[in-house]
Amino acid sequence: MPDARLTLDPAFSIGPIRRALFGGFVEHLGRHVYDGIYEPGHPTADAEGFRQDVIDLVRELGVDTIRYPGGNFVSGFRWEDSVGPVSERPRRLDLAWHSTETNEVGLHEFSSWLEKVGSDLMMAVNLGTRGTLEAIDLLEYSNIRGGTALSDQRIANGRTEPFDVRMWCLGNEMDGPWQLGHRSAEDYGKIAAQTAKGMRQLDPSIELVVCGSSSAHMPTFGEWERVVLTHTYDDVDLISCHAYYEEKNGDLDSFLASAVDMDGFIETVVATADHVGAVRGSTKKIDISFDEWNVWYIDRFHGVDKIEGIDNWPIAPRLLEDVYSVADAVVFGSLLISLLKHADRVASASLAQLVNVIAPIMTEPGGIAWRQTTFYPFSITSRLARGEALQLKLDVPSHTTEVYGEVPVVDAVATHDAEAGRSAVFLVNRSRTEALEVTVDVASLGDVSVLESHTLTDDDVYAANTLEAPERVAPHPNETATVADGILTLTLPPVSWTAISLG
Ligand code: AHR
Repeated sequence: MPDARLTLDPAFSIGPIRRALFGGFVEHLGRHVYDGIYEPGHPTADAEGFRQDVIDLVRELGVDTIRYPGGNFVSGFRWEDSVGPVSERPRRLDLAWHSTETNEVGLHEFSSWLEKVGSDLMMAVNLGTRGTLEAIDLLEYSNIRGGTALSDQRIANGRTEPFDVRMWCLGNEMDGPWQLGHRSAEDYGKIAAQTAKGMRQLDPSIELVVCGSSSAHMPTFGEWERVVLTHTYDDVDLISCHAYYEEKNGDLDSFLASAVDMDGFIETVVATADHVGAVRGSTKKIDISFDEWNVWYIDRFHGVDKIEGIDNWPIAPRLLEDVYSVADAVVFGSLLISLLKHADRVASASLAQLVNVIAPIMTEPGGIAWRQTTFYPFSITSRLARGEALQLKLDVPSHTTEVYGEVPVVDAVATHDAEAGRSAVFLVNRSRTEALEVTVDVASLGDVSVLESHTLTDDDVYAANTLEAPERVAPHPNETATVADGILTLTLPPVSWTAISLG
């Protein structure tokens, strides 16, 4: 008897999968930009100083829209510092990360890098220590063709065509007391609405993301969304969610169930947004931009990583360089499953972050670049999850966790691309000890077979890829996966993430 029975049917569509669901995030933080994507002296550096080995890995990862330049960094950022001749750009203190920002890489250089990796720009404006006018100025600089002071300045700086930035974030984590310029929901809602209106007067076609909560565990969660959306409902398109997960107190069972929290977070924000819409009698729907999500051992920053001292403002220090284990990658894969399960309302998502800083890609100055364990669930899901997201009927065992109570041991989602005649199933086994036999009824797909199978697991759930052993962990084909008589059968090892492509 199978342990878990799943039914897949293209009729159970959640909604189309927007490519922006597979977005990333590059912040001027630690060694992300400097000594990460940009290292002029590196053997693979191109004429602009960008590492080709990193460009190749970012392309392989399959990242769509990339959020930039922060994060907490943006709340102290003057965008004007980052354009014009590099030699004339000022060095500034970055208060968020207690570092020095040289501004050697700015808007023009980063846009050029985005073209190399094949991604679009999602720009965040500073609504912490700056305001509406600076946001409108940046939009004019970026999106107006020419003939005005700021668009002509862009042209003089070497960029004839507008950057044509489509997605804009109205600040970052404005609910967080750590944020420079942190505001109450009322105050933020007002400045966000005013800025959104002004930006739309300039370019009505842009998409605007208003700040939601920086975690579902903030004391203001829920009420923040209600108040902010009450002010901004007619002027924005999306509201942000941020969530980071980590194993705490050795409680692996609860950590493996982190996606239960993400599911609840998304559903609560959707409910709150729809409530605000209902009160207003609006037919408009506000979608979610899950523009920071990942596994992150946050306590490290508050301990080992913390930089202090009035005379100590390093350039590109090693910060937030988490090394990810197999268990981390399994949780990471389950977070992607959660995002896909909500593809009807999560229009955009940004993996935080991309290189060196809580990242799927690591680099050594002058040395190699390598894939962390989390690289694989992202690259495989981004490549295989096409068309529509499908809700699976799940008949699976459950177990009890300390933090989330009773949770299903298996979580899964499917995707279906009718045009290409391809489907995919993504599954996670949260059991620490038991392999699970799974059957998926795929009869509704007709005569299909397994095209690809990938399982990420290891006898040592804490195994990781490092500079010394960069290929220690990688997914393997799941040899147990077969289709016969309309039934896909496979075994999921304990603590594993699996993707199956059918066609
Ligand atoms: O991604 C790291 C930091 O996490 C970001 O700068 C901030 O927005 C969040 O708190």
